[in-house]
Amino acid sequence: MSSERRRVTLIPGDGIGPEVSEAAVRVVEASGVALAWERVEAGAEVIAKFGTPLPDEVLNSVRRNGVALKGPLTTPVGEGFRSANVLLRQALDLYASVRPVRNLPGVESRYQDVDLVVVRENTEGLYSGLEHRVAPGIVESLKIVTERASLRIAEHAFLVAKRDGRRLVTAVHKANIMKLSDGLFLECARRVARNHPDVAYDEIIIDNCAMQLVRDPTRFDILLLENLYGDILSDLCAGLVGGLGVVPGINVGEDCAVFEAVHGSAPDIAGKRVANPVALILSAAEMLRYLGETDAAANVERAVEATLIDPANRTRDLGGSADLDAITDAIVGNLA
Ligand code: NAI
Repeated sequence: MSSERRRVTLIPGDGIGPEVSEAAVRVVEASGVALAWERVEAGAEVIAKFGTPLPDEVLNSVRRNGVALKGPLTTPVGEGFRSANVLLRQALDLYASVRPVRNLPGVESRYQDVDLVVVRENTEGLYSGLEHRVAPGIVESLKIVTERASLRIAEHAFLVAKRDGRRLVTAVHKANIMKLSDGLFLECARRVARNHPDVAYDEIIIDNCAMQLVRDPTRFDILLLENLYGDILSDLCAGLVGGLGVVPGINVGEDCAVFEAVHGSAPDIAGKRVANPVALILSAAEMLRYLGETDAAANVERAVEATLIDPANRTRDLGGSADLDAITDAIVGNLA
């Protein structure tokens, strides 16, 4: 491979991951950007081989290349190993999860004109993995909130606002109940907001936010949340614009960035080649933009939009009957 090619890590992942990653790689290559993909294995399906869902080779590859495109990784519920996704974000200090949520032409949803960004703290809160049994029938789970992580995620929300010309950052919290933990998160958000008077700032309690989002999502612009609230509201927001198949995601830190869809490994449809690859393809477009390939990124996004306008190209989750290969062919065909 030519030494000029930018090297990026590809983590195909579990379930539908390999199928949708292959589709995303096809689209990126067809967009004309020459990348050298360094494929590494992670997830539930590689435990038998490596003894861990997150081999060191994966972390080293992302550290070396600085950029990765990642499929979903399966995590068992209630037992078994800790989430490889959470470990990856913590190990690489990918402190900001950024998920742009907007309507796509042709994708039916109950709402129109949704255009918001979920900015989620990605490294602490209740995802710190500090749980223990205090006594039979009693467990304790620790929610860790630090000033450092709260300040930097708030800074990131305002950075996204300025970069993308957005008007409002809304901090989402439950500081009425969790006065210390969410209280610190909120105090940090206020401190950062004071340094950015050109972007409006407000606050909302998480339960009210969930209700307001389903009443009128257009009133929101950037949502700033700690880890658990961000995880839950990301899926809610995906539901506002047509579901998990269409929302991209970016995990970013000081040194590297990992691009992945909001959805999981979808074991119910894995291997059937009916998954919607759009979320990962749009994540790959975000990756191209991060790499400075802005024209290629816009080209991919336009091709996705042009594809979805035709009902014949829509996958089952979007009410159509196209399979993974048909929609990918159409996106490639719609590239300029
Ligand atoms: P899921 O997102 O995998 O699936 C939820 C529903 O949405 C399923 O009916 C699935 O068929 C559908 N779906 C998801 N993505 C789709 C796509 N691209 N096209 C068409 N339909 C799609 O969520 P679930 O079932 O809660 O989790 C399954 C596994 O994925 C779990 O082990 C979970 O831990 C993992 N997961 C991994 C994530 C990641 O790697 N970032 C994120 C979320 C879940």
